[in-house]
Amino acid sequence: MTTQATKGHFISFEGIDGAGKSTHIDSLAQAFRAQGHVVTLTREPGGTPLAEQLRQMVLNDPMDAMTEALLVFAARRDHLQKVILPALARGEVLLCDRFTDATFAYQGAGRGFDWQTLLVLEEWVQGRAAQGESAGLGNPLQPNLTIWFDLPASVAAQRLSNARVPDRFESQPLAFFEQVAGGYAKRLAADPVRFTRVHADQTPEAVGRDVLQAVRDKGFLP
Ligand code: TMP
Repeated sequence: MTTQATKGHFISFEGIDGAGKSTHIDSLAQAFRAQGHVVTLTREPGGTPLAEQLRQMVLNDPMDAMTEALLVFAARRDHLQKVILPALARGEVLLCDRFTDATFAYQGAGRGFDWQTLLVLEEWVQGRAAQGESAGLGNPLQPNLTIWFDLPASVAAQRLSNARVPDRFESQPLAFFEQVAGGYAKRLAADPVRFTRVHADQTPEAVGRDVLQAVRDKGFLP
């Protein structure tokens, strides 16, 4: 049982590195603004000054999977409290480049950190108490819609080969990204209503059309 944000629209974007989320997030922001919505564009790990500092550590400093998981959840806590929950309470559209599914995919499936422990951390950070409603765990807040840019790891690797200096994740071998994609598939299977899987191995125009359709199917755009 999870809570979905009731006021505002919370949309997250997921996929392995190189899946090509960024341009589509920007186009979607324009589409919402054209309809008169106030849009907050943000990302994880990051989105607040503290969380951006944690992002630099997670992307660059050597650490084990548990430390990674704790740091991304610490960043998420700060981000939820200072940016996400206030924006949703104001009724805005919040477009978030990655959210908790990335932790399950990267730290869980990719690094092999315990899935059940991640579920507990998710309840701590996104559960009732964290949303300020009442004491306790349970009902972790989730996006209203999660768009998963699904791309074969081999295609993503080719795209990334032209990229700037790779960070601790981008430099991982193909097998790591195949595991990460498996983690996303597992999260989709657990919450198929929230997730839309977009085949990212198409032309940018076709991917853009699928992204827009996913948002229309939820009734967020005409
Ligand atoms: P980005 O480059 O798409 O902004 O993502 C930053 C990197 O951080 C990306 O390789 C995925 C990774 N990441 C995690 O490992 N765990 C998380 O919870 C999040 C949000 C991102």
